[in-house]
Amino acid sequence: MSYAIIGFGKVGQALAHAFARKNMEVAVASRRPAEALAPQARAIGPTVVAKSLRDALAADTIILAVPFEEHREVAKALPNWNGKTVIDTMNTLAPPEALDGLPSSAFVAKAFSGARLVKGFNHLIAAKLAVDPIVEGGHRVVFLSGDDEDATVPVADLAKQLGFAPVKLGKLNEGGALVQGRGGTWGRLVFQDLFKKAQ
Ligand SMILES: NC(=O)c1ccc[n+]([C@@H]2O[C@H](COP(=O)([O-])OP(=O)(O)OC[C@H]3O[C@@H](n4cnc5c(N)ncnc54)[C@H](OP(=O)(O)O)[C@@H]3O)[C@@H](O)[C@H]2O)c1
Repeated sequence: MSYAIIGFGKVGQALAHAFARKNMEVAVASRRPAEALAPQARAIGPTVVAKSLRDALAADTIILAVPFEEHREVAKALPNWNGKTVIDTMNTLAPPEALDGLPSSAFVAKAFSGARLVKGFNHLIAAKLAVDPIVEGGHRVVFLSGDDEDATVPVADLAKQLGFAPVKLGKLNEGGALVQGRGGTWGRLVFQDLFKKAQ
């Protein structure tokens, strides 16, 4: 598997720290050229590699960490998304009518047609996501949801490799609604910082 984080702000850098901690390679990209991101990427760790957006999108798993309204711009960067897994870390409190009445991640999935979309790593503030998720033998929980159950399996594996405890919530408009914004309020699991004891 190859990984890229698109968006190298608070969440992108938090997740880059998680990859660096485990010596796992990850590309990072934004609208800026690779050279502009390289010093910050190097400061996080040698496995964090700044790339152009185009080069980063060659990865098979793309972690979207851009402002919600920007997802369409990222989607336009490839002619099609067949074979890719997109991990949606984005949150929005946009009104339902702005999202065609869909959960925000289902709305995002329409822009990335062909990709398998999993929502995850979105329910905590970036500062919590950035620190070691293993605390006193417990693993910080991340929630995963998606309409393609098979797609959540490799994302759960990734979360485990990074030291998190993945908890699957099911489909986006079912358990997944607990980690989405809806009608101006956050789902009940947003901001819940939970730990799972190692088994
Ligand atoms: N902050 C949090 O605590 C938090 C927690 C959970 C989820 N989230 C969600 O995570 C997402 C990112 O939030 P953030 O706080 O990390 O934002 P941020 O600090 O503002 O960073 C956004 C990043 O996206 C890049 N970007 C913007 N438009 C882009 C485009 N069209 N193509 C490629 N890169 C683009 C920006 O870099 P350039 O300007 O260089 O392009 C920047 O690196 C949001 O959707 C937010 O809802 C945030």
